[in-house]
Amino acid sequence: MKKIISITVAAFAMAVVTSHTVIAKESVASLRGTQDIEGSSLKVTKKKLISKEGGFERNYKQQPPLIPHKIAKYKINLKNNGCLKCHSKKNHKKEKAPMLGESHFLTRDGKKLDHVSSRRYFCTQCHAPQVEANPLVKNEFEGVK
Ligand code: HEC
Ligand code: HEC
Repeated sequence: MKKIISITVAAFAMAVVTSHTVIAKESVASLRGTQDIEGSSLKVTKKKLISKEGGFERNYKQQPPLIPHKIAKYKINLKNNGCLKCHSKKNHKKEKAPMLGESHFLTRDGKKLDHVSSRRYFCTQCHAPQVEANPLVKNEFEGVK
């Protein structure tokens, strides 16, 4: 019985996914437009980065918060992490910036460190700034409130 239910659920989920793909295909143009492979791609329009005071609302509890400011000037490499100049335990008060989340100090075995864990060193792996861009596809996604 359980098996039948899960097969039905899987089939339903597939039907939903397929129907969405069909809708998406109809209304979305490739970023290359109708240019063929040999031709050059369309010029990319430069979009403005959004600075948002108070930050962006999160869509769900464990979401890495979006970055509400410009980041071009902050480099992250082996010797230096520009983000930590404001977000580290040591500097965040002085810079009036939110401190790294508690999870950023844990090793993969759950051991607490006094510095940012290497798993969380490359900030932009998870945190992304936002540009003023219209969604390419209409969507009705709503975050949890
Ligand atoms: C010059 C100081 C400074 C630097 C450097 C800096 N930030 Fe920030 N950051 C801030 C401040 C101040 C805020 C709070 C802005 C607000 O809420 O109005 C913030 C907010 C954020 C937030 C949102 C937190 C939340 O809970 O909404 C994220 C994520 C973030 N920064 C990531 C980064 C990353 C990644 C870098 C490096 C690429 C970086 N920041 C570099 C000052 C800085
Ligand atoms: C592997 C993904 C990942 C990486 C890498 C990462 N973060 Fe996060 N970050 C998260 C998640 C998930 C949250 C929300 C949950 C939490 O607070 O732990 C978060 C939360 C935050 C917050 C908000 C904390 C709060 O209490 O509101 C700040 C600020 C932040 N990160 C900055 C950074 C900076 C700066 C770096 C780089 C040194 C970084 N993060 C690297 C995933 C990541």
